[in-house]
Amino acid sequence: MIEFIDVSFSYDKKGITVLNNLTFKIEKGEFVAIVGKNGAGKTTLLKHINGLLRPTIGQVKIEDENIVKKPLSEMAMTVGLAFQNPNHQLFAETVMKELEFGPKNLGSDSNEIEEKIQEIAEHFGITHLLERNPLELSGGERRLVSIASVLTMNQSILVLDEPTFGQDYRQKKRLGNFLKSLSEKGITVIVVSHDLNFILDFAQRIIVVSQGEILKDESTFDILSDEILLEKSDLAQPVLLNLAINLRKRFDDFPLSYNSDELVENLQQILQKGEK
Ligand SMILES: Nc1ncnc2c1ncn2[C@@H]1O[C@H](COP(=O)(O)OP(=O)(O)OP(=O)(O)O)[C@@H](O)[C@H]1O
Ligand SMILES: [Mg+2]
Repeated sequence: MIEFIDVSFSYDKKGITVLNNLTFKIEKGEFVAIVGKNGAGKTTLLKHINGLLRPTIGQVKIEDENIVKKPLSEMAMTVGLAFQNPNHQLFAETVMKELEFGPKNLGSDSNEIEEKIQEIAEHFGITHLLERNPLELSGGERRLVSIASVLTMNQSILVLDEPTFGQDYRQKKRLGNFLKSLSEKGITVIVVSHDLNFILDFAQRIIVVSQGEILKDESTFDILSDEILLEKSDLAQPVLLNLAINLRKRFDDFPLSYNSDELVENLQQILQKGEK
């Protein structure tokens, strides 16, 4: 379990408070999305989970242990963080070396490392890139490598900053399904994203952050149905959910499903009723 207790943070002593009294818990195995406007403090919040930033005031606890003074090297064994900008993360000469770095550092067995890398690389469709220089890859490929490189270490918490940015539809779906399967195995997954369709498909819960404070923390469906909150947060409601909500305004018992096949089915039933 991750727990923030009254966490406040400023980048410099005289500067503005970027995180403001944040208190929340995330349970083991949850798939949580953090959303909010540009500059709301999302990246700053994520960096508190792996100790890259430490609270100015308050505590961050993981499994009931205050991590505020825990060394980064130890934190890396528990929390994997994929940066918003992969260029700030990638440093090795080849993708292979990039993926090996974490588990080698942890002293894992070399056969185990090889197996894990092949599995992850296949999963992300980057096997053909293993001998390439990460900095010569396309933007989308680079992001995939940066995400893959935090998944090689079997940490119990994964924190991903804008993981779908620049990804095509197939890759997004693959990534979402993979993260979902990890969360079903008990790994806690936290993503910051502006991609509400991705969040609607995969995350169970959304924390909306505004000016370093939590504006609302509810189930994905409740947040994405709250049109006033979305408007206030400059978030656009996913189109299919919007359609379902509007249909429900016209037809009282219209089910609030946002899966396109189900929507078509539900519409068909309404039309058939109308014909009778
Ligand atoms: N290294 C830094 N030094 C000083 N101020 C910073 C630093 N990084 C971020 N900030 C400031 O902290 C605030 C929150 O930034 P943060 O990167 O956490 O926002 P964000 O919600 O992740 O935004 P985005 O959606 O654009 O990624 C912003 O006002 C930003 O200017
Ligand atoms: Mg950010």
